Amino acid sequence: MYRIGEEELNEIRKVIEGGRIFRYGSDEGQCARFERRYAEKLGVKHCIQTASGTNAITAALIGAGIGPGDEVLVPACTYMATAISVVAAGAIPVIIDIDDSLTIDPAAIDAAIGPRTRAVIPVHMWGLACDMDPIMEIARVKNLIVVEDACQAVGGAYKGTKLGAIGHIGTFSFNYYKNMTCGEGGAVVTNDDGYAERVGCVIDPCRFYWDGRENAFSGFVQNGARASEFEGAMLNIQLDRIDDMISSMRAQKKRIIAETTGAGLSVAPSHSLEWECGTHVMYRFESPEAAARFAELTGGTVAIKTGRHVYTEWDPILAHRGAHHDALNAFKMKENAECRMNYSTEMCRTSLDILERTVFIQTHPDRSADETARLIESIKTALVSV
Ligand SMILES: Cc1ncc(COP(=O)(O)O)c(C=O)c1O
Repeated sequence: MYRIGEEELNEIRKVIEGGRIFRYGSDEGQCARFERRYAEKLGVKHCIQTASGTNAITAALIGAGIGPGDEVLVPACTYMATAISVVAAGAIPVIIDIDDSLTIDPAAIDAAIGPRTRAVIPVHMWGLACDMDPIMEIARVKNLIVVEDACQAVGGAYKGTKLGAIGHIGTFSFNYYKNMTCGEGGAVVTNDDGYAERVGCVIDPCRFYWDGRENAFSGFVQNGARASEFEGAMLNIQLDRIDDMISSMRAQKKRIIAETTGAGLSVAPSHSLEWECGTHVMYRFESPEAAARFAELTGGTVAIKTGRHVYTEWDPILAHRGAHHDALNAFKMKENAECRMNYSTEMCRTSLDILERTVFIQTHPDRSADETARLIESIKTALVSV
């Protein structure tokens, strides 16, 4: 979380005083307003607010028609919710390598496509943009659905187009750690009317009763993951701040890179430095030992040590614990018998090698120029001892 305060409090107070806490009503409420504004900002037709990013990815996959019998390509480096969402939709995640940019390797996508592969999830990790041009081209030629996971990349873009709005369907998280937050929350965006209708059903299978369209779509059973007006209210305020914050962080990242790479440090290549979020500077070292030492001296983080962001730590996936009941466990469904699910902790060695040699330093929109100068000095000093 970067900025939160009086404006959010005022907006939430208004929601309580107005007595309109439920998202459905006769006029445009906070959630509907946010969905309209966020869709406009991203240049997409539909935005559907959800209770979390995990709900958003699951809903996007189901919305796009992914289910039992399908494989979905996911990168070796992402929060485990990405792979979990695939299994929650009844499909099987096939885990593939990232490249030097720390995002999914387009060549690995091409190489991994098999007879069951229906979709790929490019994840814009740490606010970095995946290389969407080749990814979309492979998807076009090989007939894959592209579901963007932009949970960590709210506010960023790739060559001018907003992350999440490039693939066939995109997803966001607004949890506490994200660029825009309402505590817990998420969203799905798409230009496809059919996908949007199905996503709406996953997020609220009863919405047709609430919004007076009972006969519009027959729907199907789902748990639902509806957002409240409080979350909508916070997001409307957060949305007003995001551009300014992202441009500060992007500028800070560029300054840090400019003043430290000359001193002999190298950074991970970026696919869209001018447009990505700029939330993290990613330094690359020759050895894991050098990376660990640099992290210790600067207070940075070795990319492989961030918890559940590396496939080796996705316990329920690696152990095929896909549901609370065998009959609902995608790994045991007969429809998935031909899908590839023989995971091992060494299967994406290239990714592990890259992650253990990468250290990230976070930017902050409220860090002053002087504080940034001091950070740069500490980075340069650390370099001498690595
Ligand atoms: C890349 C990525 N995907 C998905 C998620 C899941 O989002 P949530 O925690 O809102 O369910 C996260 C959250 O940390 C994430 O970082």
